[in-house]
Amino acid sequence: MPPRPDLSVSLAGLELSVPLMTASGTCGSGLELAPYLEPGSIGALVPKSVTLNPRAGNPNPRLWETPCGLLNSIGLQNEGLAEFLASLPALAGLGVPILASVAGFSVSEFERLAAELAARDEVAALELNISCPNVEKGGMAFGTDPASAARVVEAARRASPHKPLLVKLSPNVADMVPVARAAQDAGADALTVMNTLLGMAVDPVSRRPRLANLYGGLSGPAVKPVALRFVHQVSRAVSLPVVGCGGVRTGLDVVEFMLCGASAVQVGTALLADPAAPARIVRELEEYCARHGVAAVRDLVGALETE
Ligand SMILES: Cc1cc2nc3c(=O)[nH]c(=O)nc-3n(C[C@H](O)[C@H](O)[C@H](O)COP(=O)(O)O)c2cc1C
Repeated sequence: MPPRPDLSVSLAGLELSVPLMTASGTCGSGLELAPYLEPGSIGALVPKSVTLNPRAGNPNPRLWETPCGLLNSIGLQNEGLAEFLASLPALAGLGVPILASVAGFSVSEFERLAAELAARDEVAALELNISCPNVEKGGMAFGTDPASAARVVEAARRASPHKPLLVKLSPNVADMVPVARAAQDAGADALTVMNTLLGMAVDPVSRRPRLANLYGGLSGPAVKPVALRFVHQVSRAVSLPVVGCGGVRTGLDVVEFMLCGASAVQVGTALLADPAAPARIVRELEEYCARHGVAAVRDLVGALETE
């Protein structure tokens, strides 16, 4: 029997047993996933984005299934910072690093959230969700403008000088590289690529939009080619590690993201259909490594052949 492939990766000071994390917003508070989590099936857990105050989110309907994808306009529904802080001991009991996803509507909100979350031992790292609207700038998402993104990252870096800081980039831009570079220059330790792609769906009979909010974020296998392209572009343009996210469903998807330059990946929409998917994905990744003579999965990072 050949030795088992080494699936561990380290990025931004985080040691992950496998290169797979949950994507924010797709496993509830995180605790709902506990009954489905086989030991060793995820390297880190990213719970739903936390805002300063509790939010009910957008009106229903706010989910619509598309061919190979899902549109959502949940609108950052969550219990708010105080409840999240209270849930941390239980989350830490899951036995995997917790990456707190931070969502603010102003730079000062990001700063306060980052300070309070980073102060907790249960939080291994922060992930800034900069796809949120900046209320001080007419609702334009922080992540679509390099200068706004830089201000958020600088503020979070000030508030949390020591915890690894991941910045999750928005695909709703013509070019992600300037925002990625701005995040790097402002002190990010890693970049998550990517959040959902804005889209809409229409009911031709009622002539009404399918989502009460009109627009929603598209995720799932339909967006994977876009995510792979952004991971490839961003990982070549910055020196930071990149975490791939968008449509991961199988072990081979993980391989594809790593070849394009991702050091690890997140799985989101696939969890909604099958919360036990991570164990299967890790088994498939291990099988790929064994079959293709990959001794350490980290050797796949950026190993795409283009000649
Ligand atoms: C229902 C739902 C809720 C989401 N909520 C959040 C969120 O709160 N914060 C965030 O950063 N991303 C959120 N996302 C985006 C995912 O974390 C992920 O970036 C995106 O869905 C692409 O990955 P996937 O195709 O594997 O789902 C959400 C996605 C879905 C489907």
